[in-house]
Amino acid sequence: MSAPISATASAAPTASAHESGRRQILVTSALPYANGQIHIGHMVEYIQTDIWVRALRMHGHEVYYVGADDTHGTPIMLRAEKEGITPKQLIERVWKEHKRDFDSFGISFDNYYSTDAEENRVLCNSIYTSLQAAGLIEARDIEQAYDPVKEMFLPDRFIKGECPKCGAKDQYGDNCEVCGSTYQPTELINPYSVVSGATPIRKTSTHYFFKLSDPRCEQFLRGWVSGLAQPEATNKMREWLGDEGEAKLADWDISRDAPYFGFEIPGAPGKYFYVWVDAPVGYYASFKNLADRAGIDFDAWIAPGSKAEQYHFIGKDILYFHTLFWPAMLEFSGHRTPTNVFAHGFLTVDGAKMSKSRGTFITAQSVIDTGLNPEWLRYYFAAKLNSTMEDIDLNLDDFQARVNSDLVGKYVNIASRAAGFLIKRFDGRVQDSAMHHPLLGQLRAAISQIAAFYESREYGRALRTTMELADAVNAYVDTAKPWEQAKDPANAVALHETCSVSLEAFRLLSLALKPVLPKLIESVESFLGIAPLVWADAAKPLSSENAINAYKHLTTRVDPKQIEALLAANRESLAPAAETATATAAAAPAKTVAKKQDDAGVISIDDFAKVDLRIAKIVDCKAVEGSDKLLQLTLDVGEEKTRNVFSGIKSAYQPQDLIGKLTVMVVNLAPRKMKFGLSEGMVLAASAADEKAEPGLYILEPHGGAKPGMRVK
Ligand code: MSP
Ligand code: ZN
Repeated sequence: MSAPISATASAAPTASAHESGRRQILVTSALPYANGQIHIGHMVEYIQTDIWVRALRMHGHEVYYVGADDTHGTPIMLRAEKEGITPKQLIERVWKEHKRDFDSFGISFDNYYSTDAEENRVLCNSIYTSLQAAGLIEARDIEQAYDPVKEMFLPDRFIKGECPKCGAKDQYGDNCEVCGSTYQPTELINPYSVVSGATPIRKTSTHYFFKLSDPRCEQFLRGWVSGLAQPEATNKMREWLGDEGEAKLADWDISRDAPYFGFEIPGAPGKYFYVWVDAPVGYYASFKNLADRAGIDFDAWIAPGSKAEQYHFIGKDILYFHTLFWPAMLEFSGHRTPTNVFAHGFLTVDGAKMSKSRGTFITAQSVIDTGLNPEWLRYYFAAKLNSTMEDIDLNLDDFQARVNSDLVGKYVNIASRAAGFLIKRFDGRVQDSAMHHPLLGQLRAAISQIAAFYESREYGRALRTTMELADAVNAYVDTAKPWEQAKDPANAVALHETCSVSLEAFRLLSLALKPVLPKLIESVESFLGIAPLVWADAAKPLSSENAINAYKHLTTRVDPKQIEALLAANRESLAPAAETATATAAAAPAKTVAKKQDDAGVISIDDFAKVDLRIAKIVDCKAVEGSDKLLQLTLDVGEEKTRNVFSGIKSAYQPQDLIGKLTVMVVNLAPRKMKFGLSEGMVLAASAADEKAEPGLYILEPHGGAKPGMRVK
């Protein structure tokens, strides 16, 4: 499986690039959406990829790890609008936040870029034009939900209404979170646009499709699937492809109408590439941007038959895009296809989906802010990761126990026990003959096995093997008892041997841990006075020619107070709802995992602050002709103009009784077009949960002294 270990440590292209066994490897992680913070669920993926990349670099291969923010699409456009900034301003800010988080977690991207880049536009256009030339693009008119107020087509996730099965209110256009049924957005009762509140209408528009149903695509994909590393992925693919002749693949809608934040399709004014087209192309754009700066032959890496390898690490929720669309796009636009796609499972915290209300929706930044060492999390995730798509759980008690016992108790302990004697009694130099000790032979032999576990993404096994070796080293020290040996000068040679064996063992364990704990191992390297460790160093023991440096504390234990602080920090900083985060992925046929965070209806003070409530004076009130529910209110909220509001309170009030009264109004509600005119807000009224059993409506009225326009908070 792995190529021969190369002697060069450098990952940069050098003269040795053509040395036999030196592989060229391009690696990516999924590009995070640019409308939210990085949380520790995302981090599972970036840590998994980073460990792999580091392990391969330690063989001396030419490895490039590239990433970028996924910046286009409706949710990002609307989010920017909500914040009153341009999409470009939003994605620029988020890019900096994401970059900061990746840096703190030691994610060693060779380039971190953006899909909103010129390289990406050029690549998208060229891929699209090639697909067109191959006869795989087709224009077709389709009918879709349209928001007549906002004047935009609505993705399913932006339509809500009552569930057609159970009647639950405020359900999304594709599935009901109360009864769990799935349906078409057209089946929703009283549907409304999440963007403006208007009732969606049906509207026809021309869309462009990638003809995945073309027999050429099916045939290609059937062959490509056989090379997938994960049996679960292969099975999923077989399910999507169906039986031979079943023609199960549907054409893929790759265009969106303006307004859309993205790239305009060449030759189709007002039509934009769907974000899932330019997102994977963003992998190449990031690599191209790097290649141009670093003198890498980009075209040779992406040409059909390229000898370079190409791997994509992703979450299991986006498998469909990476094992169907992306390879087919590449194949039929004249590019090489991915060598493999590696999907991982989802992170749960204490056995449940990350939840904002329980404070277990943990952002990457909060980990840093609470002073937790991000490498502890790298270690914990690595210990739980394997090559399958199984979900992994962060159990916070287990996390503390594992880090404290493995890293501090077993590993670092070895160095702290040996270093003191070696420095005080032996000038910091090892006994060269001790380097032949059988225990060290055992450790050296295990290193290639451990390196192979990393490459096959069996990190849990790599770390279990490493910790078993650490146990053996600790048992050796316990038997030799250096603290007793030190009491009698006659035992000096034996003591020197014990400390030398321990320290060389510590060096080998550090080598085994290096892909997971890069920063810690950097301080180990400077403590031991050695060059950055690579796999080939397993055979290069410490030598009496170089003295080690004074031992400094290498790491500390996890303090339970930090865990408490972490939970508290996330409970407070309840980030803006993740609701829109999944919107662009809504068209994914593989609805394996819902990424939406369960927030159990609890909102943050920031969420509440979004509702602009004002004292309003009812300056006029009339019945509405043709409606037996509505009253038409004219409201003074301290603005230049009065507001017009239709309110369903006719059953409870006579119009003349309300004139001159004060009430409370939501002033920043999107205006709603109604049969009788535009409604510009909402007044607040109380009613029983079951209005049929207990009728009655009571509009709110402030205590005396309140004036129109005052903010209610
Ligand atoms: N923008 C798309 C990917 C485009 S790739 C060309 C996307 N973005 S995301 O921000 O929603 O997710 C980024 C990656 O993080 C995905 O691979 C996703 O599976 C992963 N994860 C998001 N939440 C996760 C967990 N809770 N656990 C593990 N991985 C998670 O999808
Ligand atoms: Zn329902």
